[in-house]
Amino acid sequence: MPNSFKRTLVTAALPYANGPVHIGHLAGCYLPADIYVRYLRSIGSDVKFICGSDEHGVPITIKAKKEGITPQQVVDKYHKIMGDAFNEFGISFDIYSRTSNKTHHQTASDFFKTLYDKGGFTEQVTEQYYDEEAKQFLADRYITGTCPKCANPNAYGDQCEKCGSTLNATDLIDARSTLSGSKPVLKQTKNWFLPLDKLQPKIKAYIDLHSNWKPNVYGQCKSWIESGDGLQPRAMTRDLDWGVKVPVAGADGKVLYVWFDAPIGYISATKELLPNNWKDYWQNKESRLIHFIGKDNIVFHCIIFPAMLMEHGEFVLPDNVPANEFLNLEGEKISTSRNWAVWLHEYLQEFKGQQDVLRYMLCSNAPETKDNDFTWKDLQTKNNSELVAILGNFVNRTVVLTHKFYNGKVPAAEKFSKEDMIVLEELAKFPSKISEPLEHFKFREAISELMNLARLGNKYLADTEPWKLIKTDEERVKTIMNIALQITTNLAILSEPFLPFTSKKLFSFLNINPLTWLFAKKTNNLPTNHVIGKEELLFAKIEDEQIQLQLQKLENSKKENTPAPSIPPQKVETTFDEFSKMDIRVGTILEAERVPKTDKLLKLKIDTGIDVRTVVSGIAEWYKPEDIIGVQVSILANLAPRKIKGIESQGMILMAENTQGELSFVVPTKKDKTNNGSIVK
Ligand code: MF3
Ligand code: ZN
Repeated sequence: MPNSFKRTLVTAALPYANGPVHIGHLAGCYLPADIYVRYLRSIGSDVKFICGSDEHGVPITIKAKKEGITPQQVVDKYHKIMGDAFNEFGISFDIYSRTSNKTHHQTASDFFKTLYDKGGFTEQVTEQYYDEEAKQFLADRYITGTCPKCANPNAYGDQCEKCGSTLNATDLIDARSTLSGSKPVLKQTKNWFLPLDKLQPKIKAYIDLHSNWKPNVYGQCKSWIESGDGLQPRAMTRDLDWGVKVPVAGADGKVLYVWFDAPIGYISATKELLPNNWKDYWQNKESRLIHFIGKDNIVFHCIIFPAMLMEHGEFVLPDNVPANEFLNLEGEKISTSRNWAVWLHEYLQEFKGQQDVLRYMLCSNAPETKDNDFTWKDLQTKNNSELVAILGNFVNRTVVLTHKFYNGKVPAAEKFSKEDMIVLEELAKFPSKISEPLEHFKFREAISELMNLARLGNKYLADTEPWKLIKTDEERVKTIMNIALQITTNLAILSEPFLPFTSKKLFSFLNINPLTWLFAKKTNNLPTNHVIGKEELLFAKIEDEQIQLQLQKLENSKKENTPAPSIPPQKVETTFDEFSKMDIRVGTILEAERVPKTDKLLKLKIDTGIDVRTVVSGIAEWYKPEDIIGVQVSILANLAPRKIKGIESQGMILMAENTQGELSFVVPTKKDKTNNGSIVK
């Protein structure tokens, strides 16, 4: 930690209290934050760890509508579920607060008032959609309509999920309110804007000072500032009835923009935690502010919140914002609505007591510099071949042999061989091998060094074989076991930030008190004759069946949640003349065979009444050649011939394609009335 700082305030993004916590949350933000904080605590730094539920904004009101309960009921329900899940995974917040509480409303309101009184906002009247039946302005997510780009009839006011375009509500064709289904009208409304355009030079100077930020974060900030027209004023108030009331005259029915109030939640929570000295962390140049977030929050924490803090004037600015990228699951984006996720509360039930396995997996595989994939197979491998086979195995052998040979008493190390000296030298390097990457938010590297320490121990035992040597050289075995116990002690200490549950067990196996064994202390030697404790199982093997079960669960949720495909919208208008140019005939299939080396194509001989011709058709998935001889079909006869796989195809069979993409012939229903060559019109 840079020496000029005396204390650190670490925050983790306040999650919306609108659903349970999944592995993406943990990997993106809460786990790295926790590891960092635990590390700082273990080197004796003054650090506080702040989080809480974000209980305002449209994400909450939408959820309330979906569940048919009030927004207050939504946040009460999920605040508890989320807080419990974090707690159970050892995320060691000093406080897990919530933005619906009084301190927060007061703090956010005061903050707004201070900026307002300083002239920090501009007032702007804009036209927003208004629902006259529901009598309220409509946030973008409350408006649906047809996407102007891809004709998806269910696009939202801010985005079309089908083609991915970012939209303005006013771009939608046939916009409708999701509240009442009525057609919204445009109505003028006044809101207060943070003039980011005017603040741009200050913000740019601030960002430029932080070129040491993670490249993914710094890069995104630069491109926000430098691209296009630069920063634009952004409304800090909204026409909504759920949130912190705007504390100025003429603002009835308006609340603070959720992204204005939520980051102030970090301040409010610190106040709650430290009513008397919260300012030491927020308003003192010797304090360092660090925000852990996911990448979708970068602009809010690196640009908008710092701008708010600058304008207010009394606060320190974020010193670092180590944002992670996204974690995918089995190759697909995690999605709450499609239930494509691993939920912490479910994991906890299915892998009882195995929180550290998930922590280990999510840290070694963290989306630190790019999006990354979580697979169940990887979790099994990491567990079985690293946690069980290396760390667990080493510790188990050490503790068991110490009991067997010495009744649990630490033997004295007397004569060191060359091999011992090398191992001791290596061992001494590990505290800094782990702390250096941690200081730079390189959690993957740090945790891999932790496993390397266990590897060192494992290899040492495998090389020296004390279980054999005990028969011939008791003295030498004492030294070996002493060294193995020193390695175990270091594992207990150094694993704490990453694997707190495991670390706790290791301390108890060794019968020592975690508080007196600090991370960076040079000598972490268990004294000779100290009596160690009993070992228990550290890690259990994860079986194939358990992994299969999880994959099956995901498969099921895919089946249940794949939305019924929608009927494609009507094509652009055409004329009868255009249509008449198509010469469509009834014909009979005389012969059919597969086109070699293809999965989809059949080569057909068809009697069109005009002639007998060859047509290549992509129907092999749906029809077997032997089943369609003699079947009547419709064929577009005057389609220009084309070569398909070297065969000239003289026409096209008409097919009906359903929403699943399955094909079926379009056939006449009165066979005796449709001779080959009949015209379809
Ligand atoms: N609730 C936001 C989200 O889940 C994060 C808010 S972070 C804070 O994306 F700054 F507002 F606290
Ligand atoms: Zn679209």
